[in-house]
Amino acid sequence: MKLGVIGSPIEHSRSPEIHYEFAAQFDLNISFEKYLVEKKECIDWVKDFFANKGSGLSVTLPLKEVVLGAADEISERALQAGAANMLHLRGNKIFADCTDGIGLVNDFKNNEIEIVNKTILVIGAGGASRGILPSLLNEDPKQVIVANRTTEKSFKLVSEIQETSGLQMKSSILMPTGLSLKGIDFNTFDIVINATSISTSKEQTLDIDKAIFNKASVALDLYYSQSDTLFMKMAKDSNVHTVLDGWGMLVHQAAASFNQWSGFNPKIKEALKSRRD
Ligand code: ATR
Repeated sequence: MKLGVIGSPIEHSRSPEIHYEFAAQFDLNISFEKYLVEKKECIDWVKDFFANKGSGLSVTLPLKEVVLGAADEISERALQAGAANMLHLRGNKIFADCTDGIGLVNDFKNNEIEIVNKTILVIGAGGASRGILPSLLNEDPKQVIVANRTTEKSFKLVSEIQETSGLQMKSSILMPTGLSLKGIDFNTFDIVINATSISTSKEQTLDIDKAIFNKASVALDLYYSQSDTLFMKMAKDSNVHTVLDGWGMLVHQAAASFNQWSGFNPKIKEALKSRRD
């Protein structure tokens, strides 16, 4: 089975080793390559991959939105998110799905983190935020606040998700704002999620007040790395009880994608342990 992951940058991706570990559990013969693909070539590249014996692709930054343009069918949850992190050839049709949200929710469950009735601050309004918001909202939080450096983008994202989700959310549940969080009480956030791309860039500066962690018991950076990201350091300095990176979510979303490609349900324990810190 020919599989792979596309994105830019892509060298850092740990997806291949996770999928090889899953495949070994079932004695499946797969190839799983990393492909550097830029936004402008993405749609043609994807079509070409599937026309040449490709079975499935993981999709990472910054392609999660643009990749929908290559799909013949889009799952409900990818439509709600307006983003996909996996593609699968079904018959001769390219199917797009978003397993990021369920990956995050499963990672929270695995870490015994409750979402119900919690106030969640999500920083960032790009593809990464899109991928997780519908699944978070499905878990009945009290409120989700989306803060972004470019304020208009958080407003646009929230209104798009309200429109397409059909989740019958109360409009008060999903609140857009700028990075300054002007007018919002910092002492209300139980969970703070970094969904910006700053951890992927060399110059890491996140211009946000540390007071966002005042009440938070959980902070999660969707990015994963060998050492703590700037966001994770800020959270630890602020004595947040549980500080996580995106490794658990990556493994959980990979398991959900692998299941669709292969029909097998991989055990995640080994993959969760296999990170090299
Ligand atoms: P992704 O698919 O990772 O979400 P993206 O669509 O390029 O990638 O979005 C990147 C997100 O990180 C955006 O919300 C971006 O904020 P802007 O909309 O203002 O560009 C945010 N981001 C990137 N660098 C940032 C920084 N240094 N400080 C704050 N936010 C940043």
